[in-house]
Amino acid sequence: MDKFFIKGNKNLNGHVTISGSKNAALPILFMSILTKKIIKINNIPNVIDVDIVIKILKNLGAKIKQKKILYIDPSSINNFSPPYNLIKKIRASIWVLAPLLTRFGKAKIFLPGGCNIGTRPIDLHIHSLIKLGAKIHLEDNCIYASITGRFKGKYIFMEKISVGATITIMSAATLAQGLTIIDNAAQEPEIVDIANFLNTLGANITGAGSKKILIKGVLKLKGGTHRIIPDRIETGTFLVAAAISKGNIVCHQTEPKHLKSVLKKLSRSGANIYIGKDWIKLDMRGKQPRSLNICTGPYPGFPTDMQTQFALLNTISKGVGSITDTIFKNRFKYVAELIKMGAKIKINENTITCYETPILSSSNVFCTDLRTAATLVLAACIAQGITIVNHTHHLIRGYESFHKKLNKLGADIKIV
Ligand code: UD1
Repeated sequence: MDKFFIKGNKNLNGHVTISGSKNAALPILFMSILTKKIIKINNIPNVIDVDIVIKILKNLGAKIKQKKILYIDPSSINNFSPPYNLIKKIRASIWVLAPLLTRFGKAKIFLPGGCNIGTRPIDLHIHSLIKLGAKIHLEDNCIYASITGRFKGKYIFMEKISVGATITIMSAATLAQGLTIIDNAAQEPEIVDIANFLNTLGANITGAGSKKILIKGVLKLKGGTHRIIPDRIETGTFLVAAAISKGNIVCHQTEPKHLKSVLKKLSRSGANIYIGKDWIKLDMRGKQPRSLNICTGPYPGFPTDMQTQFALLNTISKGVGSITDTIFKNRFKYVAELIKMGAKIKINENTITCYETPILSSSNVFCTDLRTAATLVLAACIAQGITIVNHTHHLIRGYESFHKKLNKLGADIKIV
């Protein structure tokens, strides 16, 4: 599954069903540690990062049945130190820390790994937990944490908007003593989904989706059933697939409201966009797109996770377009790979400028992270000739059956 042979020059057309959001599923799975009652979760995406979290939970002692619905019985969790070989694989594993501290009063975790997209510090997570009452020290790549009694509710102003740290605070504050206020909180749809999940279990969280989240600590959580929101980044990726191939794709089981900034840009690029309650259609009507100027930002801004796909869109578009990434400032490792395919892209600090290259050529390219992998596969689908895309294992970390979904839309992708 590590190498794709892709025949290019394709128009991508048809219907695709969007999976559940990876970035909502991962923290929600970890938050099951906060209760001892049964949890049922629908719409869990079948991706490797989710498998890793499930393995971590099983290692901690949870009983899990994975059918169409995921059943978690967290009552038997009895370990507060998940193994290094699992923790190191995903950045999301930092979210095990606050639930373990809540449950056991102590936790030991190795520093998390994850996508190679530049420096990804965890200082905001650590400082927030200390503010809420935890004692934490780092030694030999390991986080040692403890707390006496419950977390204590506090007012926390986030110096920098962070999805990850907002999630950490939410999970620590849910069973804390008193009120926690997160000011300048991340407003991503995944944050709202997490709040909805925790409230279903009996938490008292208001304001998720705005800049100020209020969490009144409760004594315990019960069980419950939750459905994960659709993956907005997967949706955006398939819409770009239609735009770059001058095709027509309908994404089903998605949430158009979560993609406003992306749809605005796609429409400006010349795409015809139609929206229903849970579907989005993008029809390029055979036209070459126009290039865009984009600046990524925290939600409701343009998502950094769509930066690489739009760089490809700008590359094949009419004119010159620029993208500035304000979230991860050197998320441009993929540029060298697109250049191998003929793209004309210049990097200047955290901005890239793409010069019109309507026809890409085949090459032998290497994926360095999840979104890069999706972008290079899409580039190969429209390039002339056969492209070999290497290190596609990154793809299955976050996209469910990506190559199968693309092949159904008219791509010709073979796994080697
Ligand atoms: C999450 C998403 C990722 C997305 C990102 C931004 C998951 C698994 N990952 O990542 O797909 O690209 O949000 O939408 O959901 N920062 C610090 N200190 C910290 C934490 C973050 O300085 O302790 C910085 C980061 O380096 C970055 C910015 O804050 O520059 C935003 O990071 P954050 O929103 O936390 O992203 P992640 O949670 O890592």
